[in-house]
Amino acid sequence: MNNGIPTHVAIIMDGNGRWATRQGKKRTEGHYAGYKRLKKTALYILDKGVKYLSVFAFSTENFARSKEEVGYLMDLFVKAFHKETSFFVDHNIKVLFSGRREPLSDEVLKIMDKVVSDTKDCTGGVFNVCLNYGAQAEIVDTTKKIAELYKAGRIELDDINTDSYYHYLYNDLPPVDLMIRTSGEIRISNFMLYSISYAELYFTSTCFPDFDEKEFDKALEDYQKRNITKGTVK
Ligand code: FPP
Repeated sequence: MNNGIPTHVAIIMDGNGRWATRQGKKRTEGHYAGYKRLKKTALYILDKGVKYLSVFAFSTENFARSKEEVGYLMDLFVKAFHKETSFFVDHNIKVLFSGRREPLSDEVLKIMDKVVSDTKDCTGGVFNVCLNYGAQAEIVDTTKKIAELYKAGRIELDDINTDSYYHYLYNDLPPVDLMIRTSGEIRISNFMLYSISYAELYFTSTCFPDFDEKEFDKALEDYQKRNITKGTVK
């Protein structure tokens, strides 16, 4: 935290489907509206001085949705990341992905790798897209990574502690300070379980396609009102 601005914000972007259904639209139109909203709101959040923004774009469980919806979302990721690579570069935003690569298609993996590579030297903020992500899977994968490093003699057991553990997660990011979930659901849904250990949680009934700059300011104001002096809340 710096001047009341959280260092790391994480968002569970929920409610695209409901937003669309309420307006007589297809669920997929809600996802498209969510993508358009994300572009604006993410830029606003990073411009406010937040250094790391993590968003839940697709959970490991989301593969259980209809073939049409999963196909639409995968296609949207490919098209959006192709289209927005220059947007990220122009705004000096470094893009990272968190999640399992299996069973993402080669097409999706290729554009993910490209946007990561094209933005690797950007220094104006980190946009961490959690795609095919599940927090329990992340903890399991991290444990395996640590076991492999130990087996190879590259780390000592004493190197592992609650602070250094972050370094071995999918991406080496600081703890989440503020976690937001839209659409009225009051659950964590297997999102960033390790990193949100001491996060302030903010829930709003607003569906993600309507989560605009003003809505983020409300979340920020709420966050700033809380007593978050590190060490006292812990
Ligand atoms: C949850 O709402 C949302 C998702 C599963 C997808 C989120 C994706 C986006 C916002 C687009 C992001 C785009 C890029 C390029 C990263 P839901 O469909 O579960 O809503 P519901 O609970 O109302 O059904």
